Amino acid sequence: MSQLDDIQRAAQEQFGRQSHRYGRGHILENIEDVRAAIDPLDLKPGMKALDVATGGGHTGIYLASLGCDVTLADIAEPMLQRAAAAADALGYKVKTELHAAENMPYAHSCFDIVTCRVAPHHFSSPEAFIAETARVLAPGGWFVLIDGTVEDGQLEAEEWAHQLEKLRDPSHNRLLTPGQWTRLCKSNGLNVTRTVVTPFKQPDLQWYFETAATPLANRVRVRELIANAPDSARRLFRLGEENGKIVWWWQRLTLVARKQTI
Ligand SMILES: C[S@@+](CC[C@H](N)C(=O)[O-])C[C@H]1O[C@@H](n2cnc3c(N)ncnc32)[C@H](O)[C@@H]1O
Repeated sequence: MSQLDDIQRAAQEQFGRQSHRYGRGHILENIEDVRAAIDPLDLKPGMKALDVATGGGHTGIYLASLGCDVTLADIAEPMLQRAAAAADALGYKVKTELHAAENMPYAHSCFDIVTCRVAPHHFSSPEAFIAETARVLAPGGWFVLIDGTVEDGQLEAEEWAHQLEKLRDPSHNRLLTPGQWTRLCKSNGLNVTRTVVTPFKQPDLQWYFETAATPLANRVRVRELIANAPDSARRLFRLGEENGKIVWWWQRLTLVARKQTI
């Protein structure tokens, strides 16, 4: 793997340590969002698929279940090992590759689909990630991005969410808006065919802390941020309490794009 920058190294350490949290039982095991994005693309068995920042492998394993020839990639080796074991337990053969999303070790135009779910907010360079995605996709190939977002024009709420996420998990980098992702895709020859923002429940602040092993001092500061959240964030993320648990609804972007054919 090429040399990592500070943000990439922080993510590698964080997810290497916490890999056991992202498999069975994690909320990302529910792949309704993945199905909704991928099923309309009518993928054919044998198509070559790359799942970037695969984590527990939930998205890549779904691609394998459709008969795709799947490569699972991640920056953290323990994640790759667990994702490969999860695929193996279900009877799917997948390849694994250890690399950063911003620097991919593949030839030009060698994948029919690239997916990346709930990870790009950790990337140190979304620009490099999109440029690499466009490079490794074959003409006509699909790109499916699913990630937390904040709708365009909500600067105060975005800054609040940024502070909260950074305290909860210092390897968090930045949430991009649908408009920012769309512009990046367009400038790299990826034609955006669909963007949709849907609410995604954060069901329990305590669970959210434990998943990231958030330091105790940061947990206190996150609780303060929530208690003092501006109205814009309170409304946008529907901050609330259910059965004694602090809950909210992140905004989740699904973006589908297709690489230009000429
Ligand atoms: C929340 S998990 C991803 C979940 C997974 N994609 C799914 O569908 O369930 C985030 C993953 O991003 C990986 N990651 C973070 N920064 C990365 C980077 N710059 N390049 C590659 N992987 C990265 C982490 O190691 C971690 O496995």
